[in-house]
Amino acid sequence: SWTTGNVIEEQVAAIRAQVGTKRAICGLSGGVDSAVAAALVQKAIGDQLTCVYVDHGLMRKGETEQVEKDFVAATGVQLKVVDAQERFLTALAGVSEPEAKRKIIGREFIRVFEQAQAEIVAEAGAEGEDVAFLVQGTLYPDVVESGGGTGTANIKSHHNVGGLPEDLEFELVEPLRQLFKDEVRMVGSELGLPDEIVQRQPFPGPGLGIRIVGEVTKERLDLLREADAIAREELTAAGLDREIWQCPVVLLADVRSVGVQGDGRTYGHPIVLRPVSSEDAMTADWSRLPYDVLGKISTRITNEVDDVNRVVLDITSKPPGTIEWE
Ligand code: XMP
Repeated sequence: SWTTGNVIEEQVAAIRAQVGTKRAICGLSGGVDSAVAAALVQKAIGDQLTCVYVDHGLMRKGETEQVEKDFVAATGVQLKVVDAQERFLTALAGVSEPEAKRKIIGREFIRVFEQAQAEIVAEAGAEGEDVAFLVQGTLYPDVVESGGGTGTANIKSHHNVGGLPEDLEFELVEPLRQLFKDEVRMVGSELGLPDEIVQRQPFPGPGLGIRIVGEVTKERLDLLREADAIAREELTAAGLDREIWQCPVVLLADVRSVGVQGDGRTYGHPIVLRPVSSEDAMTADWSRLPYDVLGKISTRITNEVDDVNRVVLDITSKPPGTIEWE
């Protein structure tokens, strides 16, 4: 019968059989799937695994620390953190168009990740070891959607790291291929991962970069991080985390409106709350959150976040709206 204990035991054995004495790399995104996949592989092969976390500066408040501290503490995994915040900000400077932002973020992410990968391969090579595996948090629904079959990731290196082959071939390790999301969460809990990681709601890869309508700057990211942290705190305090699918918090950086605060006129930006309920993110409805919770979030954001003088609620279903604004 299906138990998380059985799944872990089976997968640990399978990973050991697949990887043998070679080394593996796993990219951590801050999300549930990559965290649980990494934790499983760590349990199976210990320090033969190196995880890579690209800090692109587009995460929410506390999320990078969660990976760097809490995840490492819970698993004992070897982690290479790449601080690429400046690089992403530079690449995004002057860009407002959503698709352009997404492309830039995706492109930079791959470049930074590949460079980290190449460094790990080179370091292992110097020790006489072979990095042959790439861990991915592919779930069963992803397998079905893409028509099944295992693959290899052919990663072209854009960088000339001394003496490395141009193309690095990795075999994939996908220990979550038979699992659904709720099962992945159970496995993660059983492996000792904290709830903040295991119960995390969906968050897009491009992060806060696609929740700032307008150009992405450090100041705007910091401002949005504060507003988002307040919204999440209040939703959690009200016990609503399990009821809502996710709640994007969006900064309309290109919009300003007049307000009044203390004895002065303000001319600040609106923050949009986008709480939705959904089964699979394909369709969604706006969540009917209690007015007192919405009121508290609004009061706190306008009081505590500089330059924000208005909070608005998105009451659009999907379709016609998407969940994210960009
Ligand atoms: P939309 O905005 O299309 O979002 O209704 C549907 C779901 O997908 C998430 N999302 C992303 N997830 N990379 C991701 O990993 C992305 O580029 C991306 N864009 C949207 C969104 O948060 C929602 O859960």
